[in-house]
Amino acid sequence: SLPAKVKIVEVSPRDGLQNEKEFIATEVKIELVDRLSAAGFPNIEAASFVSPKWVPQMADGAEVMRGIERRPGTIYSVLTPNLRGFEGALATRADEVVIFGAASEAFSQKNINCTIAESIARFEPVAQAAKQAGVRLRGSISCALGCPYQGEVPIESVVDVARRLLALGCDEIDVADTIGVGTATRVHQVMEAVTKVVDPARVSGHFHDTYGQSLANILAAMETGISIFHTSVAGLGGCPYAKGATGNVATEDVLYMMDGLGVDTGVDLNEVVDIGMWISASIGRKTSSRAGNALAAR
Ligand code: HMG
Ligand code: MG
Repeated sequence: SLPAKVKIVEVSPRDGLQNEKEFIATEVKIELVDRLSAAGFPNIEAASFVSPKWVPQMADGAEVMRGIERRPGTIYSVLTPNLRGFEGALATRADEVVIFGAASEAFSQKNINCTIAESIARFEPVAQAAKQAGVRLRGSISCALGCPYQGEVPIESVVDVARRLLALGCDEIDVADTIGVGTATRVHQVMEAVTKVVDPARVSGHFHDTYGQSLANILAAMETGISIFHTSVAGLGGCPYAKGATGNVATEDVLYMMDGLGVDTGVDLNEVVDIGMWISASIGRKTSSRAGNALAAR
């Protein structure tokens, strides 16, 4: 049976925008976060505190965090690959920091310039500092369904990283299909394996829609008890270190599916359709949300 309620983590301000070539004005990023919080998303991934040489679009993370209107109860998350990132995040009162590793060695090198083992060692002081400061800690596992460099990724590698992130004290662990290659049966298997070592209530599904499989994959994950999903309004996004990867599953499409399934999200779809049209126009893109397009045309 499906969960009665799911938590949608809106990742468009970070995952949705990080790959845009033209620098997006800080005010636009701030407005996006504020509109999403007003629409009722319980958790918004607002920024990254990473090297601006690696991801220039996210260079204004501190300004974004300082500029947003904090909605009580909303969790604002930011990416922090190292202690330096964590200190920046703490200074701007982020509610949750995200350490991000990979289940594939090749991707770990390309994305964060170190091996999986080195990344875990680098995350350790970040995790400790987060615990000390009382900041929520999330761990992300890239390439859980496949890697653009190494191809297939064994389920055991995903479980292994999940175990290590759990040992670091992660409150939540993301199983991420970075390049959207996963299909439903495999997602089911990966989630079943991960939830043997991590409480399903703490596991999230982060699906990119490159191959159009995201909605099916979300449903497959829900069947294993997963109730947290990452989505991006208008389907914005792509990873700078995964060529050809498209955006995350579109928030509007997921909300439409959840509404149809009778699963509560706490978010109003129509409001999100407007946000999708606004941000797409603001950055000069067409929405890639099917539901967004259909509903905006009505
Ligand atoms: P490095 O070059 O190995 O490390 O990068 P470094 O310590 O030598 O730092 C290089 C430069 O960056 C130095 O500057 C540092 O000071 C600076 P320089 O001395 O050359 O002028 N630096 C920083 N600046 C600001 N904030 C920081 C910071 N740290 C160092 N926190 C590093 C290692 C991890 C820093 C780098 O590889 C990096 O920033 N990577 C980020 C990559 C990234 O953000 N990728 C996209 C997000 S992950 C993703 O999209 C996947 C996800 O969505 C899930 C999925 O779909 O799979 C989460
Ligand atoms: Mg992603």
